[in-house]
Amino acid sequence: AIDINKLRDLSGIITLDPGYKNSGSCKSDITFLDGELGILRYRGYAIEDLAEKADFLEVSYLLIFGELPTTKQLAQFETDIRKYTLVNEEMKNIIDGFPKTAHPMGVLAALTSALTAFNPKSVNVENEKEMYEAVCKTMGKFLVIATWTYRKSMGYPLNYYDNTKGYVENFMHLMFELPTEPYTPNPVVVDALDKLFILHGDHEQNCSTSTVRMVGSSHAGLFASISAGVSALWGPLHGGANQAVLEMLEEIHRNGGDADKYMAKAKDKNDPFRLMGFGHRVYKNFDPRAKIIKKAANEVLATLGVEDPILAIAKKLEAAALEDEYFKSRNLYPNVDFYSGIIYRALGIPTDMFTVMFAIGRLPGWIAQWKEMRENKEPIGRPRQIYTGHPLREFKTSDKR
Ligand code: ACO
Repeated sequence: AIDINKLRDLSGIITLDPGYKNSGSCKSDITFLDGELGILRYRGYAIEDLAEKADFLEVSYLLIFGELPTTKQLAQFETDIRKYTLVNEEMKNIIDGFPKTAHPMGVLAALTSALTAFNPKSVNVENEKEMYEAVCKTMGKFLVIATWTYRKSMGYPLNYYDNTKGYVENFMHLMFELPTEPYTPNPVVVDALDKLFILHGDHEQNCSTSTVRMVGSSHAGLFASISAGVSALWGPLHGGANQAVLEMLEEIHRNGGDADKYMAKAKDKNDPFRLMGFGHRVYKNFDPRAKIIKKAANEVLATLGVEDPILAIAKKLEAAALEDEYFKSRNLYPNVDFYSGIIYRALGIPTDMFTVMFAIGRLPGWIAQWKEMRENKEPIGRPRQIYTGHPLREFKTSDKR
């Protein structure tokens, strides 16, 4: 086994691997995935079983603490998270400073970072009780501020957590309940959201998770590290893809629904356009999450009686890509984000909130990875480089340049 702390001794050799396509950055007990076989497991449990039989808080507990909770532990976890859902009222001043048009992910990153100011005590990872409290605090407050980014953009009053409802149901309440309009979410919708959050729970060393670990490796706090993860997730090549998928489907629809034209654009190497929601860095056969979510999308749309022309375009694109030599030869298949946006849209969640939904789901993964990194006493993340700039140059004062 490689002792990560001794790798420093080999620093005379530098391997260049842009995008870390073949470089491991850590050892981890959390998530196993096999891109060739399309396998995803959290702590050894198949994603298919977890999505079908567990709920999001149960899976969050599993990811973060390593074991599925007993009934008693799960109930305690829910209660303890609830305790921390109150967000300091002064945070509202920060929200008020943003324009209504601000992208929710930008606001979420800023608010998450601002939580540090209101919770300045850094957590001692070796103290089990302190770590447990930090986990509950993060799970509680993050859900509330995530929904506040939407309330702000709509000009609605901010909502508080409802102690009579579960975590995922609370998401719907925090988002949609208005003083004048009581809101009762459809259980099918709550169930689909629960599944979506589970499927997004963790995905080993993806861009945002590696960011959380990297930032945390300098011993920056949990909120600061997660704020950085939110920013990393925002990009359209990562979590932002779910918003980009819907925008792409809407554009195809607006332009007459000609999926073939967009297929041709995606294949044209002189055109920067990519078919959003297709391809994955690791899954080169199929994305097991996409399989589960495709089924859930069909169920939700059937239950809610949604007939969406966007869905017809999505199906057309999917079928065309699966038959196409360009996509086949490059192992480009629909990923989880190809379908998640279709569900979010059916649930009435606005497009620019899609990546926030991903962040809520990914939160337990970020916490678990941060905790593991600190518990393993990993060294500060500090990659090397191959310098390609000028050799030594003579300095000339500005009048001589
Ligand atoms: N549409 C068209 N061509 C594509 C696409 C796509 N969506 N994805 C990859 N390709 C092509 C590339 O142009 C390249 O072709 P080439 O070999 O002829 O040059 C080849 O497939 C390999 O692509 P890479 O970019 O090298 O693959 P990489 O592993 O670096 O990228 C990524 C993976 C970023 C996901 C990419 O497939 C992509 O941009 N997809 C669209 C965005 C997306 O859906 N992102 C969500 C990822 S999942 C998630 O974050 C949950």
